[in-house]
Amino acid sequence: MPTFDKRPIGVFDSGLGGLTVVRALARVMPEEDLVYLGDTARVPYGNKSRETVVRFSTENVLFLLRQGVKMIVVACHTASSYALPFLERHFKLPILGVIEPGVETAIRWTQTGRVGVIGTQATVSSGAYLRTFKRMAPKIKVVQVACPLFVPLVEEGWCTGPLVDQVAERYLKPLKRARIDTLILGCTHYPLLKQTVGRVLGSHVRLVDSAQQVAIKAKELLITQGLARPNGLPTACFNGRFFVTDEPHHFEKMAKRFLGWCPRPILKADVSTT
Ligand code: DGL
Repeated sequence: MPTFDKRPIGVFDSGLGGLTVVRALARVMPEEDLVYLGDTARVPYGNKSRETVVRFSTENVLFLLRQGVKMIVVACHTASSYALPFLERHFKLPILGVIEPGVETAIRWTQTGRVGVIGTQATVSSGAYLRTFKRMAPKIKVVQVACPLFVPLVEEGWCTGPLVDQVAERYLKPLKRARIDTLILGCTHYPLLKQTVGRVLGSHVRLVDSAQQVAIKAKELLITQGLARPNGLPTACFNGRFFVTDEPHHFEKMAKRFLGWCPRPILKADVSTT
């Protein structure tokens, strides 16, 4: 008799961006419930130290555990880069990050063996992508570029237009020079810049958006561990609960852009453990 588990999946991000992962999870597993935590009081993570990101991530996981989740998806690339190994060591439930699924896709897609990665300063400095490529496909040449201005531009709603074009031209120059054929969008916000990045690099460069790949991986993991809900039920319908650590107003305003619909209600979370 197949087993299944009705508990929700937990997803956390430093803020809003992780909603791109929620969107993919809802598409791939509409039968699952989900609890989302956006650490909006402490965003951005992308310019913080490893120690701080590990501490914030641990508090986020503890909060999600209190909500009774069966698995955790770390939607934030910075948190995945700095904190995933620590979280995997210290918690027993399955925890999935966004780095490996993105790398797997890039390895499958690249024809020339030259891959680019863009991310926050912390993600690039952590070396997490470089280590993962080295382990999985050591022959691939990887060029990384930190693009710290991309996150505030997306948060402002400036995903296209002359200003973003100019910033993108400048950041992406080393990737053009390296003649990559595949680029990993290594940050939650960058899928919203696909149009601009795609135009600057040209249509011969394929863009890896990790969200879809993570959702597929999450489903496989739930099935193999006997934690999935049965799909195809007539009543199956995606059900999400959304928490943020700061006042929810800004999140409410911006969520539609990342998710495609407006989640309600958005509740304020207290992640402090003291
Ligand atoms: N969520 C972060 C990431 O994917 C971007 C925003 C931040 O810097 O916190 O790296």
